[in-house]
Amino acid sequence: MGKAAVLRPVKVLATRRLPGEAWEELGPIEIGPIDGRRDDVEALVVSGDIVDDSVLDRLPALRLVANYGVGYDNVDAEACRARGVAVTNTPGVLDAATADLAIALILAVRRRVVEGHELIREGRWGSSWSEHPFLGRDLSGARLGIVGLGRIGTAVAKRAAAFDMHVLFHRRTHEAAAGYRELDDLLREADIVTVHTPLTHETTALLSAERLALLRDGATLINTARGAIVDEDALVAELVSGRISAGLDVFVHEPRVPEALRSLPNVVLTPHIGSATVETRAAMTRIVVDNVLALTRGEPLLTPV
Ligand code: DGY
Repeated sequence: MGKAAVLRPVKVLATRRLPGEAWEELGPIEIGPIDGRRDDVEALVVSGDIVDDSVLDRLPALRLVANYGVGYDNVDAEACRARGVAVTNTPGVLDAATADLAIALILAVRRRVVEGHELIREGRWGSSWSEHPFLGRDLSGARLGIVGLGRIGTAVAKRAAAFDMHVLFHRRTHEAAAGYRELDDLLREADIVTVHTPLTHETTALLSAERLALLRDGATLINTARGAIVDEDALVAELVSGRISAGLDVFVHEPRVPEALRSLPNVVLTPHIGSATVETRAAMTRIVVDNVLALTRGEPLLTPV
C-alpha cells in the first residue's frame, strides 16, 4: 500500500496575490515585498520582480522561485542554480492570449483603429466616410515576419494564416523549411514583423538600430515579448520619423514608456497585457500553485526552467 504524501509546511512569500481560484489552495501565505533578510522563506512567488544575487543573499533558506509568467528574464536563473534554488515559470497556457494580442495590435495599427477611435472621441469626425483620410493596409496578402517560432510564434502563424497573410519566420536553429529567413532577410522582406523570442543575453537588442533600418518603409513592428529585445531609442527615432509604425505591449523600463511615443499617430501602446485574460491568468496561477504544492509534498516540480 502506497504511503500518503507527507506534507511539510513550507514558508511561502508572494510579492502579490495572484488571480484565480487555485490561489486559495496555498492557504494563508504571506504577501508582501521582499524586505530585509528573511531566514524563513523557502518558496518565493514573483511576478516580474527582480530576483538576483542581492535578493538571494537575503533568503538563505530559499528552495524555489515560482515565476508568474513564461518569460523569466527577471530571475537570475544561473545564480539560483548555483545556490540550488529551483526556478519555475508558466509555459504553455498563455500562447493563445499573447498571440491574440499580437494580432489585435497588427489590426489596430494596420487599420488605424485607435486613430479612428480618437477622432470620434475628440469630436473631430466631420466628413463623410469617403473623405476622411484613414486609409490603412490590408492584412490579406501582407508578409508577416515572425521572429521566434516557439509556442507563441506558432500560435501567431496559425492566426495569420486565417487572415491570408504570407508567413515568414526566423528562429535560432536554422532550418530549410518553407518561410524560413535569415533575420536580416526577414526584416527586409516583411510588411509586418512580430517579435516572439524570450529575452536572453543573445536576444538583448537583437533588433538593433542597424537591423531596424532594414525594415521596409511603411513596415509595422509588433512587440509583445520584451522591450529590451529591440533597441528602444532607435525604435523611437524610427517611429518619430514616421518611416515605420508599431504596436507595442512591452517596454525596456516598464511602467515607463518613452515620452515621445505617447503622442505619435503611428503607434499603438498597451500596458504589457499579452497574457491578461481572466482564463489565462487563472491558468498561470494554477501552475504557480501546483509548483509550490509540489515543493511542499516533496514531489517533482511541474515546470522547472
Ligand atoms: C510572460 O508570461 O512572460 C508575460 O509577459 C508576463 O510577464
